[in-house]
Amino acid sequence: MKAAIFHGTGQPHTFEAVEIDRPKGHEVLVRTVACGVCHSDLSAAEGKVPVATPMILGHEPAGIVEAVGEDVADFAPGDHVIARLRPFCGRCNQCLLGQPNRCNNRAAVQRVAGDRPRMTYRGGRITGITGDAAGFAERMLTHENGFVKIPQDVPLGSAALLGCAVVTGVGAVINTAKVEAGSSVAVFGAGGIGLSAIQGARIAGARRIIAVDVNESKLAAARRFGASHVIDASAVDPVQAILKLTGGVDYSFEAIGLKQTAQQCIDVLVPGGTATIIGVLGLDQRVEIDPMSLLAEKRVQGCSMGSTRFRIDAPRYIELYQQGRLLLDEMITRRIRLEQLDEAFAAMNRGEVLRSVIMFES
Ligand SMILES: NC(=O)c1ccc[n+]([C@@H]2O[C@H](COP(=O)([O-])OP(=O)(O)OC[C@H]3O[C@@H](n4cnc5c(N)ncnc54)[C@H](O)[C@@H]3O)[C@@H](O)[C@H]2O)c1
Ligand SMILES: [Zn+2]
Ligand SMILES: [Zn+2]
Repeated sequence: MKAAIFHGTGQPHTFEAVEIDRPKGHEVLVRTVACGVCHSDLSAAEGKVPVATPMILGHEPAGIVEAVGEDVADFAPGDHVIARLRPFCGRCNQCLLGQPNRCNNRAAVQRVAGDRPRMTYRGGRITGITGDAAGFAERMLTHENGFVKIPQDVPLGSAALLGCAVVTGVGAVINTAKVEAGSSVAVFGAGGIGLSAIQGARIAGARRIIAVDVNESKLAAARRFGASHVIDASAVDPVQAILKLTGGVDYSFEAIGLKQTAQQCIDVLVPGGTATIIGVLGLDQRVEIDPMSLLAEKRVQGCSMGSTRFRIDAPRYIELYQQGRLLLDEMITRRIRLEQLDEAFAAMNRGEVLRSVIMFES
């Protein structure tokens, strides 16, 4: 099969053959139909989050099951699936507590040492950005707990966005922060994750949803996705603007990945308000909290994939999509070929796209 090989920061991707094994045990082999391009892939490509190379990036895929291992009962060839390419084990404390997004029991969903690798490139083992399968490849082979079956009439290009952007943004609002109806919300960053958080806030019934971005077209999109107010942070100080508008918000969300905007998320809160930092900051960065914010009982929390219970939340989001309450098609600015991956990263850097989605040829 063909895959996009990442060789290191500053080097273009190459598109080459990678060997992928047959599924065994609890594994499922999926033909990738679509994969969204997330800023976390770009952060890896730019070295902001260092990764081992060579590697295959991509973690927002959807596809069709081609074959299953002998112990798989819930999937069959022909099933349409979306993937969270970091399968949960289902039996560690975090999984049993209902937080499979925090599962770190990697060994339970990997092949045992000494087994053939799932993927090989130029004779050596290769993995994806999640340490497992990868979305920027024509096939994915991983543990069945990495996949969720979806109805056949949902377009796979749109469904792919549920693999990361949508579950992360909507989940950050509904699961991580548990925003109540009637509350006020500010979302910093109106890219794939931020627009999903704005949608989550609309679905949760927030009365005010303030979007902050530095790009006019993102702010226009934010309005279409449910923002009641927009603030252009390239023109005004967003903290002052939000405080002037609201006196402070109950919930704020950082969906960019910058220290400065993480701090701003804390500064715009009312006493007792909660900031949820979704963006991945540079690994050497630290978020500081001033003592008065602590005395005001402000809370700051992290967020991993929207605290998503993939098999519970993804079908719920699909139903909201089918009712027209969760916009997925509208998030896709460009449908591209795998070979256009580096162009998609450049377009993301220039702020030209809400989401690029790679469509694979069948
Ligand atoms: N925590 C998680 O589980 C998780 C999951 C997926 C992505 N992420 C992270 O979320 C972040 C956003 O990802 P994305 O795919 O939506 O990225 P994106 O590039 O699509 O969107 C980022 C947005 O931030 C805006 N922006 C940049 N600088 C700004 C500033 N100073 N003030 C206001 N707006 C600014 C950009 O114009 C853009 O619209 C990244 O850091 C990504 O790594 C985290
Ligand atoms: Zn992502
Ligand atoms: Zn687990």
